[in-house]
Amino acid sequence: MITPAQRMSVVKPYVFAKMNKRKDELKAGGMDIIALDMGSPDLPPTDFIVDTLVTSARNPNKHGYGGFTGSAAFRKSFAQYYARRFNVKLDAEKEVLPLLGSKEGIYHTAFAYLNPGDYALVPDPGYPTYTAGTEIAGGTPYFMPLLKENNWLPDLNAIPANVLAKSKLMWLNYPNNPTTGTAPLSYFEQVVTFCKQHNILLCHDNPYCENGYDGYIAPSVLQVQGSKDIAVEFFSLSKSHNMAGMRVGVILGNSEAVRLIGMLKSNVDSGPFIGIQDATITALTGDQEWLYDRQETYKERRDLVVTGLRAVGCELDVPQATIYVWARIPSQYNTSAEWAEYLLEKKGISLTPGSAFGAHGEGYVRISLGTSTKRIKEAMDRIAS
Ligand SMILES: Cc1ncc(COP(=O)(O)O)c(C=O)c1O
Repeated sequence: MITPAQRMSVVKPYVFAKMNKRKDELKAGGMDIIALDMGSPDLPPTDFIVDTLVTSARNPNKHGYGGFTGSAAFRKSFAQYYARRFNVKLDAEKEVLPLLGSKEGIYHTAFAYLNPGDYALVPDPGYPTYTAGTEIAGGTPYFMPLLKENNWLPDLNAIPANVLAKSKLMWLNYPNNPTTGTAPLSYFEQVVTFCKQHNILLCHDNPYCENGYDGYIAPSVLQVQGSKDIAVEFFSLSKSHNMAGMRVGVILGNSEAVRLIGMLKSNVDSGPFIGIQDATITALTGDQEWLYDRQETYKERRDLVVTGLRAVGCELDVPQATIYVWARIPSQYNTSAEWAEYLLEKKGISLTPGSAFGAHGEGYVRISLGTSTKRIKEAMDRIAS
């Protein structure tokens, strides 16, 4: 046996990798499992996006490496999208960098910035890669609690001065996974000022900005005047345009961070497949009308879950955005893992215990809406029974 690197001592299997193993065992034993765990959209991108991918895949000239910084047209399509959607001006040469899905970029950002002893400020509960990237890079996460009484926004005044002095990165994510909380632009303004004061790179992760309901339109942190001095935003096509399997996202904003992470990544990957870059250009510059219908589908599912869970005594807020519902567990259960395990083992429903997202997620579960409406109905019937 060859001894693994010391850094592997902080590496744990990703939460869904562990869960999938148990689901596979139950399925092998004949159980019908309804998966409401991972936020993987069941719906495909609209036809004209797939058509672009297919056309490019059939073009023999499109099978070389995609380029470390992607094509000029790819980068420009993000500048156009941000101008139209957020009224944000981006330099497509210096302020846009492709990622092989935003997860990859989030992970590598930690490696570009953190030394042992450096802190990254991480929301708790939060997307697990903020913590995993920090720890594997040798840094230390400082957990900022997301509490319902604070509208799921970190209390900046609660971060100790000695931690701030050693902090280099702050992770934020609104619309939020897993709490479904949203942040007004005024909160982003406060955070930009705060990060400038403390010289911390503000990393805003914005994959759910196209997943608003009932007219809610999520902002970008880059809308804040002067934000590019201190902030980057991660954008992903996974949930915005149902392109999770294509693995495409970008980091946008602060040009020094974009340059540094780009240089690091040039040693790691060689850019996204050109066909996927082309499909992305079509997704961002083509007709966006289909997203409205897609959100109506999620909304129907959201309402089914809200009604179904409230009927069994779960307290929850109706989400304004994201593809999740975040609900308190019924009072007869002690922990979120206990209820999740009961639902999986006895009812064949797989959802994510809130504790998988951090200590402050305890007492909650996250339900993903990326499963067919029929199966979601069936899951709610099983829970009611
Ligand atoms: C908050 C957040 N950030 C990033 C990601 C990763 O997205 P991608 O598919 O672009 O890697 C997810 C995926 O669920 C997420 O919820």
